[in-house]
Amino acid sequence: MSTETMTNIPVHVSLIMDGNGRWAKERGKERVYGHFEGVGSVRACVEASVEYGVKYLSLYAFSEENWNRPQEEVDTLMGLMVKAMADEMDSLDKNGVRFVVLGNRARLADELNATIDSCMERTKDNRTLTLIIFLSYSGKWDILQAARRMAEDMMSCPERCQEIQEMGVDGFDRYLVTAGIPDPDLIVRTSGESRLSNYLLWQGAYSELLFVDTLWPDFRKDEFRKALESYAKRDRRYGKVK
Ligand code: IPE
Ligand code: IPE
Ligand code: MG
Repeated sequence: MSTETMTNIPVHVSLIMDGNGRWAKERGKERVYGHFEGVGSVRACVEASVEYGVKYLSLYAFSEENWNRPQEEVDTLMGLMVKAMADEMDSLDKNGVRFVVLGNRARLADELNATIDSCMERTKDNRTLTLIIFLSYSGKWDILQAARRMAEDMMSCPERCQEIQEMGVDGFDRYLVTAGIPDPDLIVRTSGESRLSNYLLWQGAYSELLFVDTLWPDFRKDEFRKALESYAKRDRRYGKVK
């Protein structure tokens, strides 16, 4: 199917990038080799998103739970983030990509935070595609930080108490780190695992889910197109009768 004939393109595609370690192991290499190779898949999916007219592409890059990996692997992953951002930013900016990082940024090193801030500032007016990297993120952490900030607003601003108590789902959405970003239409997880691993628990409430066996470093344009084709066939009913 070519870009011209593809119908029902999701506004927001989200990818749980899993299987880097297994990809490397299959080749008799260290796990980190899979992470390096995975950057090529990120590039391919960003390019495909621009081609197909996807407006938001989000990537689960590092979970809160991933801090529990061996320190050496964590350090390599964090170094890789800084390098990938430095290497890719010219091309992303030139192609109209707005770059956003969401997650528990307090846990990130100063150098990484500085790189993130400068990339976000540089690309903030771009509108072709918003690329969101979830870093040090978990769904439960997001809901908890939203509830905490809501409680702080109630304590510091008593005149808002009633408004906050009466607010609905949309009001709570504004406290999540994803405020202003539409919920994902499609969440794809690679590597054959059928779980969310604490990802977008609130925002993914009505997302279409797709679990594919492909390991992340092998998930390139062809696999991305197949995921869009699978989504195009879905019937989203939102609890109603059609
Ligand atoms: C995904 O690949 C990358 C991150 C979670 C950071 P993994 O490192 O989880 O690879 P597998 O699942 O062990 O193969
Ligand atoms: C999920 O992958 C997190 C990311 C892809 C960033 P993991 O490999 O950490 O998940 P589990 O441990 O298999 O659930
Ligand atoms: Mg994994």
